[in-house]
Amino acid sequence: MINPKIEQAINAQINAEMYSAYLYMSMSTYLDTVPLPGFANWMRVQAQEELTHAVRLHNYLRERGGRVLLTAIEAPPTEWDSPLAVAEAVAAHEAKVTGLINDLVDLAMAEKDHATYNFLQWFVAEQVEEEAGADELVGQFKMAEGARGAMFMLDKQLAGRAFTPPADLAT
Ligand code: FEO
Repeated sequence: MINPKIEQAINAQINAEMYSAYLYMSMSTYLDTVPLPGFANWMRVQAQEELTHAVRLHNYLRERGGRVLLTAIEAPPTEWDSPLAVAEAVAAHEAKVTGLINDLVDLAMAEKDHATYNFLQWFVAEQVEEEAGADELVGQFKMAEGARGAMFMLDKQLAGRAFTPPADLAT
């Protein structure tokens, strides 16, 4: 049976990942109105990835005999000032999520829950990628800002992102 403190913290992280998906879907719908359909696609794929993060936590909790408790998901913002503002908000959000994962790792260590510590290493590595991807996006939109041709090309590039379901994740 899993430690109740860890169970509660993983449930909170499931909610945080669901919020991330909700936030990124909201960004996607905003970007459709700009219109930047490629960036909107990129954010939809990001939202799908966030859902798989929630499922990964959900599966782990079940495997450890814990109880998954789904709670209300906060409403995300619906408007941003510019595509660059969206990219910057993604980067800030991912930095926040990294902090949440680090707090979970700290808790697993404090509670001597080695299995959870080991499980969380996947998320530690994933956050390195997530932050790098978001920072790259910020750099790209900073370069393209105010240049319609560059913005068009960047949007076309972002349109090419496709969601790949993780092979190791049984849902
Ligand atoms: Fe689930 Fe983008 O971190």
